Amino acid sequence: MASFYVTTPIYYVNDLPHLGHIFTTTVADTLARYHRLAGDDVYFLTGTDEHGQNIERAARKEGVAPIELADRVVSRYFALRDRLGFSNDDFIRTTQERHRKGVEEIIHRIAEKGDLYTARHEGWYCSPCETYYTEKELGPDRTCPVHATPVEWESEENIFFRLANYQQPLLDWYQTHPEFVRPATRLNEVRSFVESGLRDLSVSRASLEWGIPFPGHPGQTVYVWLDALTNYISALGFGSESGELYEKFWAKGGAGDTRLHLIGKDILRHHAVYWPAFLMSAGLPLPTTVWAHGWWYRDGKKMSKSTGNIVRPDDLIDRFGADSVRYFLLREMVFGGDASFSDEGFIDRYNSDLANDLGNTVSRLVTLSRSAFGGRTPPTACDDNPVRAAALRLLPEVHAAMGDLAFSRALEALWRLLAEANQYLVAREPWKLVKSEGPSEALSRILWNGLEAVRLVATGLLPFMPRVAPQVLAAIGVPSAPASFESLAWGGLPNGAELPEPKPIFPRIDKKEYLKADEGTKERETTTLITIDKFFETELKVGTVQAAERVPKSTKLVKLTVDLGEASPRQIVAGIGLAYQPEDLVGKQVAVVANLQPAKLMGIESQGMVLAASIDGKPVLLHPDAQVPAGTQVK
Ligand code: MSP
Repeated sequence: MASFYVTTPIYYVNDLPHLGHIFTTTVADTLARYHRLAGDDVYFLTGTDEHGQNIERAARKEGVAPIELADRVVSRYFALRDRLGFSNDDFIRTTQERHRKGVEEIIHRIAEKGDLYTARHEGWYCSPCETYYTEKELGPDRTCPVHATPVEWESEENIFFRLANYQQPLLDWYQTHPEFVRPATRLNEVRSFVESGLRDLSVSRASLEWGIPFPGHPGQTVYVWLDALTNYISALGFGSESGELYEKFWAKGGAGDTRLHLIGKDILRHHAVYWPAFLMSAGLPLPTTVWAHGWWYRDGKKMSKSTGNIVRPDDLIDRFGADSVRYFLLREMVFGGDASFSDEGFIDRYNSDLANDLGNTVSRLVTLSRSAFGGRTPPTACDDNPVRAAALRLLPEVHAAMGDLAFSRALEALWRLLAEANQYLVAREPWKLVKSEGPSEALSRILWNGLEAVRLVATGLLPFMPRVAPQVLAAIGVPSAPASFESLAWGGLPNGAELPEPKPIFPRIDKKEYLKADEGTKERETTTLITIDKFFETELKVGTVQAAERVPKSTKLVKLTVDLGEASPRQIVAGIGLAYQPEDLVGKQVAVVANLQPAKLMGIESQGMVLAASIDGKPVLLHPDAQVPAGTQVK
């Protein structure tokens, strides 16, 4: 029996789950269910990434311990797992003991190989990515190429991994394993990145407390990506005594076995370069495939907390049902590319595919069959007809599409079968035959064909819509959902089985009404409302600028000396150099965020932030309406 191990990225706990996050888990769940039905030995893992600077900062901002923040977010993931019917076999948290053991073990092996050394590290660091970037990779004004937020200059003594030594082995691996990165375009991206030259990678942080202590190096914490990536094997028991799952789903590596990491395209480099290099160094097998999908967009931008355009799954689930959300996600995105979410697009798909194509076909057939055959499925089956021919053609397409992770193509094939069945019904007009002929054999065959097509579609839908597909099957006289795809052969619909009274499975939604009712909530969704107490956590004060000078080698940064009525003035670095001359600022009063954590900008400490209105990125400073004593509170 082939083993099939599928993983999602482990999610950061500084953000509540949004549609982009549950997408990958929905995909993994669908694949896991598909492979279980196909008879494979499946293990499906998801979890949370709980260490690192990001989480540490987010927790500090909320005034809670990092683990409290993590527990809270994890409980939201658990709630969504139940709502969306995710069938994961395990949920790994990087704060668990078993995970720490796995990380220690992999580091031990990498060290044994001689691939670690200590050196000073300097570079531009994006905290949300937990990644260093070279000057050349940065966006305008030294911003992160992924988040477009300012990066920070970091300099510290670190432990390095000899990544450069793996440049050629990685290139050789891509050459001999073209399926290692999918889709193929992503493999090309990875290959050119590696070909352009790999530099050794810092795998520890000295300034971070919230993480796993680096074994044998007091004061150093394991770099969060080395920590996080190891989840894929620590969850299987690597590094712990009970390594049975690890043996079966990772180490064995038989010919037909699969170790598949599903990821978003933003974390490709970590999975397709760093992770295989760590594994090669540790002498461990590599995943068979790293499959990168695109992003969900909304209003033309990547859905993310920082952009404020996220869709929380709960609202959609409340209104349309969990399986409709799953269907939309899997049908709308061509896996590998990007896709857009809009309320309108969602309702259109729901009404046309689910309410109309599937829901109406089921209720029409059930109603006709009940009335003609005494509340039962038709007594006579049929083996030679155009619907069967369509099923024989389309079902192999579903399997082929699933092998390519082309979920939308698989669903399209199922819907084509529905369409063929509908065309057939329109041509044979059973609704007329019921009246003219009563329960004839011809009518029995026609309705049986239609219902059999629905049975096949619903069976094919089991991995996609695990709750609704069995409901559809029950509605057409198949009360227990099959446990294997053997039932995908033509001819399985029982004759004379009881048909329950049809209930609408997908009630039609009035688009206009829905969008109107939604207007109000949408406003609120994009701006997060905060309490007055939360607002007062920010200490705003008026300061008087005593001195100002440009930061050398920077066009934008100005170093200000600002009197905030404290014992000594503050040094504040502001990005206002394109709009203001330093000499014009002296003597001016400005609004300052006074309780901001100090940060370094181009190596200069900034002890606060001056407030400015921003017009297309051009700052316009805020001043009090009249002169006030330095240090006056703003509220
Ligand atoms: N913790 C790391 C992953 C470590 S895996 C060893 C991380 N976490 S994340 O929470 O920021 O992102 C998790 C996944 O969600 C990523 O694959 C990312 O691509 C995905 N998505 C986040 N926003 C998304 C969209 N708008 N659309 C699709 N997926 C996106 O990265």
